Amino acid sequence: MTMQSQAQPAPRVHEGLEGVLAAATRLSLVDGERGELIVAGKRLEELAGRPFEHTVALLWKAAGASGAAPVRAAALPDLTLALLRDAAAAGAGSMDALRMAIGTLTAAEDAEAAHLLVGSCPTIVATHARLAAGSEPLAPRPDLGFAANYLYMLSGAEPHPEQVRGLDTYLNTVADHGLNASTFTARTIVSTGADFVSAVTGAVGALKGPLHGGAPGPALDMVFEIGEASRADRYLRRKLERGERLMGFGHRIYKVRDPRADVLEAAAARMFARTGDARLYELARAVEAAALRLLEEHKPGRRLATNVEFYTALLLHGLGLDTALFTPTFAIGRMAGWTAHCFEQRASGRLIRPQSVYVGALPA
Ligand code: COA
Repeated sequence: MTMQSQAQPAPRVHEGLEGVLAAATRLSLVDGERGELIVAGKRLEELAGRPFEHTVALLWKAAGASGAAPVRAAALPDLTLALLRDAAAAGAGSMDALRMAIGTLTAAEDAEAAHLLVGSCPTIVATHARLAAGSEPLAPRPDLGFAANYLYMLSGAEPHPEQVRGLDTYLNTVADHGLNASTFTARTIVSTGADFVSAVTGAVGALKGPLHGGAPGPALDMVFEIGEASRADRYLRRKLERGERLMGFGHRIYKVRDPRADVLEAAAARMFARTGDARLYELARAVEAAALRLLEEHKPGRRLATNVEFYTALLLHGLGLDTALFTPTFAIGRMAGWTAHCFEQRASGRLIRPQSVYVGALPA
């Protein structure tokens, strides 16, 4: 027998790699006890309302890839456009279309790939959304900034500056967040010596899951289903009694309120004040308060607080985005972090290769 004999204690497996330090990074600091997020040396609150291009540049610089020109929304190659037409005709979901379309991009070297990936992402998502809705896609306008271009390519209308600021705030808020599942995926792929496009294609797949980037749609559905603040308690109580999770609450790292939720709540409040749909905002606040009270009652001591997804849903809805666009829009922001981590991983050069414990049958 070559495996550990029965007399030896079983080695400890770090399920979910919880508590394992797998990389040193200059990109973001996530303090789950203090509820603080620092991105490339700046507090999230300081970055929040600035143009997303600025955050991308900061992250790339922190990753050692300085000297790059500011990122812009990019027109798509013919191959990508053709694939998106087919994907829309076949009824592909928005995250599947994004994953497939990213796979069509090619670049000769890393800096070019990073530009192409960040710049193409809003165009891919907006193009697929328009094609799926039966409209013709729109090319990005050179006179518009990154966030404004995404909103323009989705709706065909030039967005209000308050909407642009709301979207910039969102994109900055999700730009980078430590070694989350999708970022770890991207770093693992780059660590094999593979290209950035392959790494980011894998990251998009990891982001799709409801335990990572797929939560804001269900969080908003929950608020809509509740409909009135007076129904929140009964609805949420039933959900918890059935053993279901409340989307938009709980986090592996944050044990206090996710600082991103605060930033997004403030941005949502500004947006909803402008569009006059304050009722939904007030309802969401009432649902949040009831959820926190009931989570403490049903899961005492687990310290389940509001996470980024809850107010993401409200903000993106306020920007006029369908729920199907919530996760792809998260990808547009996180593309900044993924590409920066790819640069950082490339520089560190160590193959990521953990080990497993064999617990299966042994030959007789
Ligand atoms: N609603 C109800 N209960 C929850 C919960 C939620 N949103 N999140 C965690 N819990 C409970 C678990 O059921 C578990 O209870 P138990 O100890 O009785 O078994 C306990 O809290 C610990 O949960 P665990 O799954 O170990 O936490 P985790 O660190 O693996 O999970 C999340 C983190 C984010 C996956 C989890 O909180 C979750 O599923 N949240 C909802 C989805 C979501 O909002 N995702 C977006 C994240 S940004």
